[in-house]
Amino acid sequence: MPRKPLISGNWKMNLNHFEAIQLIQKLGYALDGDDLDACDVSVHPPFTDLRSVQTVLDADRIPIALGAQHCHFETSGAFTGEVSPAMLAKLDVTYVIAGHSERRQIFGETDEMVNAKVRAILTNGMTPIMACGETLDEREAGEAEARVQSQVVAGLAQISADQVANLVIAYEPIWAIGTGVTASSTDAEAMCAHVRRVVGDNWGGDAAQSVRIQYGGSVKGGNAAELMSQPDVDGALVGGASLDADEFARIVQHRLL
Ligand code: 13P
Repeated sequence: MPRKPLISGNWKMNLNHFEAIQLIQKLGYALDGDDLDACDVSVHPPFTDLRSVQTVLDADRIPIALGAQHCHFETSGAFTGEVSPAMLAKLDVTYVIAGHSERRQIFGETDEMVNAKVRAILTNGMTPIMACGETLDEREAGEAEARVQSQVVAGLAQISADQVANLVIAYEPIWAIGTGVTASSTDAEAMCAHVRRVVGDNWGGDAAQSVRIQYGGSVKGGNAAELMSQPDVDGALVGGASLDADEFARIVQHRLL
């Protein structure tokens, strides 16, 4: 069965809940039923916007999935400032990003923490988008493949092949995030194919065939079609361009470009 592309907009720490409502309404107008049949689409607003965006998606019956950018791995307790996966599930969140490079680099998330989050997201009936990717130094030192492999193996440790088959891995080279420098479609394909091989070696061929692998890093309307035409690229994790409804809609509509 062909893998349906998943286009995800990571709004990062942008937009208050009023601005978020405006953006999701605009996106609802910009995308039609055919667009949302051809691709799965998710938006990942900041926590403070989730309830507002969920209400708009519900009221206007827009088939865009609600996503979160992060969560804690415990269900409740003395973790000041954190949000639990159970709380997100209650808000009809479908996808949760775990291990974004900004969380790893700025907030010190380790592979072990990412793995605990991925398992907690699954336990709460949501789908993890587990992010991985190398720094420029690692790429220049020829260590990119090994780095990504170790993040995938550690991040998905103790997860069954069936569960791996149904989750999402986002390959986001750190040097391409927010820089305007996109990985060439050849490099993006090579690393996404590598990730699929790693999944095959560790969880078997069926999981490798089913798992969806996104590319992220300066994806725009102008480069989406080329990136998405690669056989192992099953979608995109989009930062900056997802804050503009028309630009994000162009990415979702890449099949028409
Ligand atoms: P940009 O699309 O702004 O490069 O961000 C990518 C990203 O980090 C998405 O999670």
